[in-house]
Amino acid sequence: MAFGGLATATLRGRWAEVLVGQQPDLRVNADRINAHLTALAEFGKNPQGGVSRVAYSEFDKAARVVVMDWMRAAKLAPTIDYAGNIIGRRAGQDASLKPLLFGSHIDSVPEGGNFDGNVGSTAAIEVAQTLAEKNLTTRHPIEVVVWQNEEGGLYGSRAVSGQLTPAELKNVSNSGKTIEQGIAFIGGDVAKLDQVRRKKGDIAGYFELHIEQGGTLEKEKIDIGVVEGIVGIKQWNVTVTGFQNHAGTTAMDNRHDALLAAAKFIQMVNRVVTSIPGRQVGTVGKIQAFPGAPNVIPGKVTCTLELRDLDDEKVDTIYEQIGKETKAIGDQNGTEFAFAELHANIAAPSDARMRALIAEAAKGLALSSKVMPSGAGHDAQAMAQLGPMGMIFIPSIGGISHSPKEYSTPKDISNGANVLLRAVLAADRALA
Ligand code: HGY
Ligand code: MN
Ligand code: MN
Repeated sequence: MAFGGLATATLRGRWAEVLVGQQPDLRVNADRINAHLTALAEFGKNPQGGVSRVAYSEFDKAARVVVMDWMRAAKLAPTIDYAGNIIGRRAGQDASLKPLLFGSHIDSVPEGGNFDGNVGSTAAIEVAQTLAEKNLTTRHPIEVVVWQNEEGGLYGSRAVSGQLTPAELKNVSNSGKTIEQGIAFIGGDVAKLDQVRRKKGDIAGYFELHIEQGGTLEKEKIDIGVVEGIVGIKQWNVTVTGFQNHAGTTAMDNRHDALLAAAKFIQMVNRVVTSIPGRQVGTVGKIQAFPGAPNVIPGKVTCTLELRDLDDEKVDTIYEQIGKETKAIGDQNGTEFAFAELHANIAAPSDARMRALIAEAAKGLALSSKVMPSGAGHDAQAMAQLGPMGMIFIPSIGGISHSPKEYSTPKDISNGANVLLRAVLAADRALA
């Protein structure tokens, strides 16, 4: 039957082979999404607005319980996999088909916003609930996923894609728990991580709706972003070792000041990253000086280094250049730098068919769209290792994210969720 063919019903209950063109009025319940977003904003709420619902915190754990209830109301059967991901399943018409996945995350950065991850998670549940309420069963089984600890480094989705290394389980998360402690805390079991591992071809496809976290869509007054690819991200813990000494009695030319070396390091990272053409970015987001007293020359500094670009090789080249210049800084004032890789998310292109389905869904809703890269990392880049991935962006007001000022309008959220609904239905047909 050609795409756009007739609707067919079977004796097994009303099952209409829905083509988006057959149900032009098919829409999500936008009020329900906004009610869920408002409810989520209470978990880890900060006085200045936004949330600190970091992965493996009590707030994260409590929000996960509520999300599982919403999944049940959407006629999904939610379980927690051994990696701690919440997966709400529903059978499709054809059990031989691989599942169609869509979802996002609900953990936040410290002092984060109310929309990063939450929009995609609540919209995914809403798409499932709308299909259930319209008594529409997809051909493919569907899995609505809320990934665990996306903000720490895609830990939940990378466990499924097989990119999580055993060493990373010892990393300390923003909650203070190690990754393995955190996975146990939210109901996973690191001893059985191999059982959540999926191989390429085990999924029919993956969609994720997300706020843009940048200002392009708002500035260009475009409704929907069709993500062409997601940047690769590498993070390191950096330790600078100098010599702790008395701030009053140590002459300026006789110091091995770890914080001065770190300051020069931060300046150098910015210079190296901006010295070559392109959209690469480099950030030192966290720093601590020890022992941390006004009258003591810091003998040690710990900080982080993060590099991102759509081209993984460029990230490696920049890292090499930074390494060379770091040595020169250390030699200048007798300090030493050590780098320990924290995690690496490889860059992931989206699938051309999925991009076309998203663009088609936007067009069917009379929404404007543009193809664009993602400077933020997402679970979708792990899912791209397993099957065709598509990502949908909606505007971030002021391009602000990872901040209590993060905001997307209910209209844009509703647009994004309706595009997700139509893209899922179109993919259900196109990928079968
Ligand atoms: O950091 C990121 O890019 C994403 O928001 N986790
Ligand atoms: Mn996110
Ligand atoms: Mn984020």
